[in-house]
Amino acid sequence: MPDRAYIAIEHSQEISGSMELIGAKNAVLVIIASLLLTRGKSRLTNVPASDDVLQMIKLMQTLGAEVFFYAQEHVLEIDTSTVTKWHVGADIMKKMRASILAMGPLLARFGKADVALPGGCAIGERPIDYHLKNFKKMGVSFDESADYLSARAELLHPNRIVLEYPSVGATENIIMAATLTPGITTIINAALEPEVYNLIEVLRHMGARINIEAPATIIIEGVASLHPVEYAIIPDRLEAGALLLAAAITGGSVSLPQAQAYSMDVFLLKLEEMGHEIIIGPQGIGITLKATKYPKAVSFKTAPYPGFPTDLQSPMMAVLCLAEGTSIVEETVFENRLLHVRELQKMGAQIKVEHNKAIIHGVEKLYGASVIATDIRASCALVLAGLAAQGSTIMTGIHHWTRGYEGLDQKLTLLGGSVKVCASHDDAELLYTKSETGTSDQVMSRN
Ligand code: UD1
Repeated sequence: MPDRAYIAIEHSQEISGSMELIGAKNAVLVIIASLLLTRGKSRLTNVPASDDVLQMIKLMQTLGAEVFFYAQEHVLEIDTSTVTKWHVGADIMKKMRASILAMGPLLARFGKADVALPGGCAIGERPIDYHLKNFKKMGVSFDESADYLSARAELLHPNRIVLEYPSVGATENIIMAATLTPGITTIINAALEPEVYNLIEVLRHMGARINIEAPATIIIEGVASLHPVEYAIIPDRLEAGALLLAAAITGGSVSLPQAQAYSMDVFLLKLEEMGHEIIIGPQGIGITLKATKYPKAVSFKTAPYPGFPTDLQSPMMAVLCLAEGTSIVEETVFENRLLHVRELQKMGAQIKVEHNKAIIHGVEKLYGASVIATDIRASCALVLAGLAAQGSTIMTGIHHWTRGYEGLDQKLTLLGGSVKVCASHDDAELLYTKSETGTSDQVMSRN
């Protein structure tokens, strides 16, 4: 999406109604990569056609997989029996760091993986040092030449892996490599995000042997082979969060019958603390939020699951800008994830940043402005702020929005908001192709 594209958000009345959720982007990306562990045709349903997913599909195609994506039906079929390559190029890697998730499955399948480095990242440095360090413990050697990271393993061997931080990506990569590694691999201090569970469930369907033990240990017993699967991706808790917050910031009421409330406990707790009414369905399935007219300030720290998710930090901050009192938001998972503050300030928010903390003094009104999205979740925060702001908000940097969400602008509009993706003529055609057609060829033409 070129820079001249933008999203126009108008001050909106209450966001209210019931809405279906699409599958979780963060679950589907790794699950697509995990199909490299199998040889044959798998079928995934509830797959969002967001740009990151299209990138992951492109990655699979460059490795030789045959892909059919019925975008309108959200059905993805991938045949991995034709995969013959183990090279992930810079064009894909630079657009989406999650491409690193192909490394574990490629090592398990071929004993080798050539993966371009994310921009400016050298071996041993963040953000993939946990992946590399622990692959080394499983017998992988690395040769970094030019822009590529060349990983080789005569034979992967099992080990007791201790993560110094419960990294989601590193946990997923090690699990996938270990599924086909003879013997028992143990991951201590593993990430246990719902998307990691979803991956484990898919791998079990493929025939993998994986157990989870308290407090955060994952035990993988390698098997000789895994088989293709048919699987429905879990509903996206981050899309659910965005829709609940849209109701909260506009004083509306939203019901999400598929939302998995028990994967969002701390977030929901904070919404209740603000004064919003939260109703949870039987067995934790289904969430309704009825907004209070007098939202109160609340404070929180982001943390690995089951703590407050970093991916809902910026959207929640947008809502706190209009709450009564002072909120303190501390970002502990990522460095430098408060760039949205400057944009919210342009809209009249009163926020002060001290290191990784944002101190938010609630104001009565926000005002429409020209703002720039700096990452996927920041784009969501700015759209939410725009719904409540007086006048019009114009948000550029919308490739972040389309990377992470499929059709959330349309969902918000259906619920009473005014959120319009405005693109140039050429882009409009491509957007049309993406949303209106169901054939793999047409959808793939976008990439
Ligand atoms: C995943 C999610 C992302 C979410 C994040 C935390 C996907 C595609 N993305 O990202 O939306 O915000 O989990 O819940 O699933 N780190 C290192 N070295 C490493 C790996 C990570 O220092 O080798 C650091 C990161 O810079 C970050 C922290 O660890 O500060 C957490 O990162 P991680 O859990 O790995 O996040 P991702 O898997 O990249």
